[in-house]
Amino acid sequence: MTTIGLIGAGHIGSQVARLAVANGYDVVISNSRGPETLAALVRELGPRARAGTALDAAKAGDLVVVTIPLKNYRAVPVEPLAGKIVIDTNNYYPQRDGHIPELDDESTTTSELLQRHLPTSKVVKDFNHIYAAELTTHGQPAGSKNRRALVIAGDDKEAKATVTHLLDQFGFDTVDAGLLSEGWRIQRDTPGYGPRRTADELRRDLAAAKRYAAK
Ligand SMILES: NC(=O)c1ccc[n+]([C@@H]2O[C@H](COP(=O)([O-])OP(=O)(O)OC[C@H]3O[C@@H](n4cnc5c(N)ncnc54)[C@H](OP(=O)(O)O)[C@@H]3O)[C@@H](O)[C@H]2O)c1
Repeated sequence: MTTIGLIGAGHIGSQVARLAVANGYDVVISNSRGPETLAALVRELGPRARAGTALDAAKAGDLVVVTIPLKNYRAVPVEPLAGKIVIDTNNYYPQRDGHIPELDDESTTTSELLQRHLPTSKVVKDFNHIYAAELTTHGQPAGSKNRRALVIAGDDKEAKATVTHLLDQFGFDTVDAGLLSEGWRIQRDTPGYGPRRTADELRRDLAAAKRYAAK
């Protein structure tokens, strides 16, 4: 894996791009307004980075990160992501995204929606519960005492192993919440959503999470 594509280059996308470049990956970043609006970020990221359309990022990425407002998930290109690992950072905020009935009634989860849109991609939920700024300040080398951990969830074991390795390079331990359908355990307003947590703490948070309806 040499190239990471980013669909979305805002708070989280730009930070993941910084981590990727710092760890020797090439990145293709994209947003909704067009590559020319990303010139400053490309300059900052240096020669490993270029800007393109979302389609370019989807095609170029060996692994692609979707990090856009959830309401726009249907705009993510499907065909070029076939068979690829797709990291989903998205969260559901009805005031921003509008109401999505199947998320309101918790009959599905955000990452399962993206997986349904990308039927042959291997969607892994990640980076959804850490503030963007902390991505480049909270990472520590493997083995550090009290290293911060991040949750992943996904239906494909190999894809999760790849993302676990990537997170380790980026400075974080990983806690596997299980299948995508378990992703609700780290959704907005659950105990693990936001604060700095070690792997053990995060496992406790996942176990203690409650459905919105049970609150
Ligand atoms: N901010 C955080 O700390 C944080 C933490 C964890 C998870 N999240 C979640 O991660 C996602 C991204 O959050 P963010 O804070 O990075 O958002 P953001 O700063 O608003 O950035 C969103 C990015 O997505 C791009 N975009 C929107 N629609 C697009 C489309 N159809 N195709 C390609 N790019 C598109 C935007 O481009 P334009 O600017 O050109 O429209 C922008 O670059 C959200 O679901 C959020 O809830 C955020």
